[in-house]
Amino acid sequence: MDRIEKRDGLIKMWMREAAGLLKASFHEKLEIQEKTSRTDLVTNMDKTIELFLYEKISAAFPDERIMGEETIGHDITDLKGIVWIVDPIDGTLNFIKQQSNFAIMIGVYENGEGRLGYIYDVMHDEMFWAIKGKGAFCNGKRLKKIEDIPLAEGLVAISHRLIAADEDEARKIGKASSGLRMVGSAGLETALVASGKLVAYIAPSLAPWDIAAGKIIAEEVGLVYRQLNGQSINLLKNNAVIVATPFTYQEIMANFSVGQL
Ligand code: IPD
Ligand code: CA
Ligand code: CA
Ligand code: CA
Repeated sequence: MDRIEKRDGLIKMWMREAAGLLKASFHEKLEIQEKTSRTDLVTNMDKTIELFLYEKISAAFPDERIMGEETIGHDITDLKGIVWIVDPIDGTLNFIKQQSNFAIMIGVYENGEGRLGYIYDVMHDEMFWAIKGKGAFCNGKRLKKIEDIPLAEGLVAISHRLIAADEDEARKIGKASSGLRMVGSAGLETALVASGKLVAYIAPSLAPWDIAAGKIIAEEVGLVYRQLNGQSINLLKNNAVIVATPFTYQEIMANFSVGQL
């Protein structure tokens, strides 16, 4: 991939501009629609930000393909060449109900390999990013390689969906850890694992845009990011995922029936 530094600068600039639009939207009436259920919502701002980023990316890189959660690139069936994967607001429910704890996310892949990953926590002004092979950072400060902490010594985030599904195995994992934490943004939960503040994040159904940026950041600091059945991530479908320290990953795979989650 060419122009890595230029891409990095542009992406951060676009994300900060998009964050400005999101903050300004708090002064206006939000239009909210249900997608598949009362917990699966979309706002006019999800669509505005996706379109904003689409226009920026396609103007600067007209030959590259773009996949976004709301409307763009849903006909993409392979990852040949350069593919941008965009989540305009990760944590839409938090955006609506908390006006905080949501992120803008962009992952750039080349022939299926993650190259650049960005998770921007808008309200806390924290930009997590990674360039494959060059390390991961938060606001310009390099993230340390993670300590390989076991489950019993760390905090774990488990997606609300697993708890709501009365999933015994998820509860047992929580019990075996030091404690459970839930944020409601796959990206921010992945960033917490990458920062060493959690030892694992487990979610039963993440889409490509929930995964793309975080996977690159997580792998740069030495985390395992895989499907719960042990297979590598497939960015063309939804995945049941675990992001964890290698030790915690091994423990969870060996001691809990996570393949069924
Ligand atoms: C959702 C959030 C949530 C996770 C869901 C995702 P969205 O993304 O990351 O934490 O549990 O699976 O779909 O819809 O707010 O972009
Ligand atoms: Ca959504
Ligand atoms: Ca998302
Ligand atoms: Ca989203």
